[in-house]
Amino acid sequence: MTENILVSVAWPYANADIHVGNITGAYLPADVFARYHRLKGNRVLMVSGTDAHGTPITVRADAEGLSAEEVYKRYHRRFLDLFVKYGLTYDLFTTTHTENHFKVSQDIFLALKENGFLYTQTEKQWYAPGKGRFLPDRYVEGECYLCHYPNARGDQCDNCGSLLDSTQLINPRAKGGGDLELRETEHFYLDLGKLAPALADYLNAGKDHWRPNVINRSRQDVTELRGRAITRDLDWGIPVPVDGWRETGKCLYVWFEAVIGYFSASIEWSRNNGQPDAWKDWWYNPNAKTYYFIGKDNIPFHAVIWPAQLIGARRLYESDASKTLNLPYDVPANEFLNLEGQKISGSRNWAVWGLDAAERYDADALRYYLIANMPEARDADWSWSEFVARNNNELVATWGNLANRMLSFAHKNFEGEVPDPGNLRPEDRELLAAVEAGFDSVGELLGAVKLRAALGEALRVASEVNRYLDVRAPWSEIKTDRVAAAKTVFTALNAIDSLKTLFAPFLPFSSERLHQYLGHGGSLFGAQKIVAYDESSGSHEALTYDRSGAVGKWQPSKLKPRQVLHPPAPLFKKLEEAVAEEEVARLHGAG
Ligand code: MF3
Ligand code: ZN
Repeated sequence: MTENILVSVAWPYANADIHVGNITGAYLPADVFARYHRLKGNRVLMVSGTDAHGTPITVRADAEGLSAEEVYKRYHRRFLDLFVKYGLTYDLFTTTHTENHFKVSQDIFLALKENGFLYTQTEKQWYAPGKGRFLPDRYVEGECYLCHYPNARGDQCDNCGSLLDSTQLINPRAKGGGDLELRETEHFYLDLGKLAPALADYLNAGKDHWRPNVINRSRQDVTELRGRAITRDLDWGIPVPVDGWRETGKCLYVWFEAVIGYFSASIEWSRNNGQPDAWKDWWYNPNAKTYYFIGKDNIPFHAVIWPAQLIGARRLYESDASKTLNLPYDVPANEFLNLEGQKISGSRNWAVWGLDAAERYDADALRYYLIANMPEARDADWSWSEFVARNNNELVATWGNLANRMLSFAHKNFEGEVPDPGNLRPEDRELLAAVEAGFDSVGELLGAVKLRAALGEALRVASEVNRYLDVRAPWSEIKTDRVAAAKTVFTALNAIDSLKTLFAPFLPFSSERLHQYLGHGGSLFGAQKIVAYDESSGSHEALTYDRSGAVGKWQPSKLKPRQVLHPPAPLFKKLEEAVAEEEVARLHGAG
């Protein structure tokens, strides 16, 4: 049965470039998962966009003497380029700075207000007399009052991950210096206390498939919920849609509206495709499954606060009163990736930047290492020497050489065609059965979002094919028994054709090439492109994907005798040992 799968991917802040930690934390696992489900024949909608508002962007704009608009557009464009280079197949990657997103966010706000889940409160907020304005939480730093980490940000502690109340920081100081004082200001609050019982019901039922760290943490968070301010004194963002508030420079809090992006982007995608109601298949169909790919620092926002927003808003743009918005089916948050044993830090330039790495290495080589080493259950470490070793010993030695060797052999000895095997021998059938079983074993792991294990399983299947070839040794067979060699080559080519599909979610570029070498017409995956959409407010750039190509191809190969093969080339490149040293030197030199 065809399933509707929503792949919601964290929205990167438009204030910094994307590094390998971000890629392996959220964007790449989402893509692997989406590609698998498309191949399975499921209806996938993968959406995200640039998180364009809020203080992360204004902080960067201030530092560079640019407008927030200029800053977000520059990073947005770089995100689009990176996603194309890494083959991240968003059905839509948009931004929060669209007319559609403004409207949808304001409508959710109004639905929550209407349903009685918002209240206003006058609070004390940090104010900078020197600057004549209120300071957002991110502009205030100090000691965390929970774990006593000395450099906690006002909104969240980087050490213990807790969401903080900036007015409770110990020894607070303004970022960039200057006086601080507490002043009164009025804000809207999301009444999380009132939503807590419904949230607890949600988190306590049917969550066995959730990662333990995500569910345990979220259940704990729900026991301590208090109202949270969802508006800010800030002019870069979405105006609060209430008379008198719009005018006084108050905006929706960036975390309140960014998560709404999953919903608004689904609507935007539907409109762009000329089926304005298509999004309902993911947001109102109770059988749809919605997944949220995020890093662990985002867990409370996706597993607690976003569900609270959805429960409170209940229903939007839908007249059937029996329906309610779908809550997250799973939030497979990843842990962090370190680099050469140290925490990745953009500001210290201790990072492997995505665009930069793609200049020197093939996307599939990077994807391979990032998935084989994905921080799914615990933090992982990017080490350049391990990158080189795993590229050479696993990707090239186990998989790339297997494909290249057999295709070259068939080309040379069987006139560039799949040979006719006559009747297969028991050992041939055994191998094909073992490869066929890979569609279940790899597929099951992929479906359970155990991507690292899934890739390991695909590689194990490839080793079985290597073992079969070591025993059959077609390069000897051909000299004495051409009929036997034809059986072996036919069997191996079919196994390789199946492996192409088993590896496709992980290594789409090389699988696409192999698909051509094996003489199949058409493309294995459709194409991605950057397009401009017009809105009345002006046009905006977005990434889209033509998803027609891959659908329903998660199946064992049925390569026919006499299929014409195309001249092959190696799928991957072996890397020199010296590469690791060069890269580590580059890292230190750049620091
Ligand atoms: N911009 C946030 C971050 O990079 C993530 C936001 S996910 C969203 O941490 F859904 F809230 F946008
Ligand atoms: Zn802390």
